[in-house]
Amino acid sequence: MSAIALKRVRKSFGDKTVLHGVDLEVREGEMVGLIGASGSGKSTLIRLICGLERMDRGTEGRIALFGRETQKDGRFCEHSEVLRRDVGVIFQQFNLINRLSLLTNVLAGRLGRIPRWRGTLGLFPQDDRVKALQALERVGLIAQAHQRASTLSGGQQQRGAIARVLTQQARLILADEPIASLDPASARLIMSTLREINRQDRTTVIVSLHQIDHAFEHCDRLIALKDGRVIHNGPTGAITPDDIADLYGVEAGSLDLVKAPSKIGPSRPPLGAYPGNGLDRQDGLAARLAVNA
Ligand SMILES: Nc1ncnc2c1ncn2[C@@H]1O[C@H](COP(=O)(O)OP(=O)(O)O)[C@@H](O)[C@H]1O
Ligand SMILES: [Mg+2]
Repeated sequence: MSAIALKRVRKSFGDKTVLHGVDLEVREGEMVGLIGASGSGKSTLIRLICGLERMDRGTEGRIALFGRETQKDGRFCEHSEVLRRDVGVIFQQFNLINRLSLLTNVLAGRLGRIPRWRGTLGLFPQDDRVKALQALERVGLIAQAHQRASTLSGGQQQRGAIARVLTQQARLILADEPIASLDPASARLIMSTLREINRQDRTTVIVSLHQIDHAFEHCDRLIALKDGRVIHNGPTGAITPDDIADLYGVEAGSLDLVKAPSKIGPSRPPLGAYPGNGLDRQDGLAARLAVNA
């Protein structure tokens, strides 16, 4: 089944069109990297999918999640809010509420699923507390459950944000540059945690990344945006250094290319082992690309 389907989705701000009739489909259980230079439209695309933005009218554009439409020609569909409960969003800036405990932040993942009055009073059912604690355990933060969010490191806060979408029981995770503010070790941990959730729970993951080496390492497929258009959409192994150079407007020679090792694995997954990500089957791929821009 398709987790996400976009047809002819155009988005403008004032008279500036930032997405030009985008068509794309993501199947349930995929982990897709969304890459492209700053300003290419990655965040706008993610915001349209999760309902934070509305597409332009007049193109008969459509967005559907899990086979049901959320937006049609610039109008939200009746059940779009219900569908959005299944979508968990992770932002670059962690988005935890500083003065609240990590556990309370994680419990907020249940807000879309309990009566509003309960949420307002912080009266979460026992079951939800158990789910939240299990999620914290899964991301390795059980010991920090009662710490204020403001006292956690950036990497811990981002793992907290992942625990929140786990508690939400999201079927689709949209992560918008989730590692852009993190040190390399924390970034690897976040990416391998997302990959593991994708593998173990079959949660569909879309992750926008500026650091494309991480996209190569963890994603099944890459969608590349340039100036609001999809210019590459295919298996990770099919993108070439020339494609990357074109994407970032640089000379291929200025890319720092390293031949793919025979097998790439995340440093150490936080939670048990999982099967290889398939990259070992792609030979000769320049898997580590650092854009010198
Ligand atoms: N709310 C907004 N109002 C006006 N312009 C916007 C808004 N959001 C994004 N843009 C513009 O849309 C383009 C794409 O932005 P964005 O989706 O944030 O790209 P990316 O995430 O790839 O960096 C940029 O030119 C940006 O300035
Ligand atoms: Mg962005």
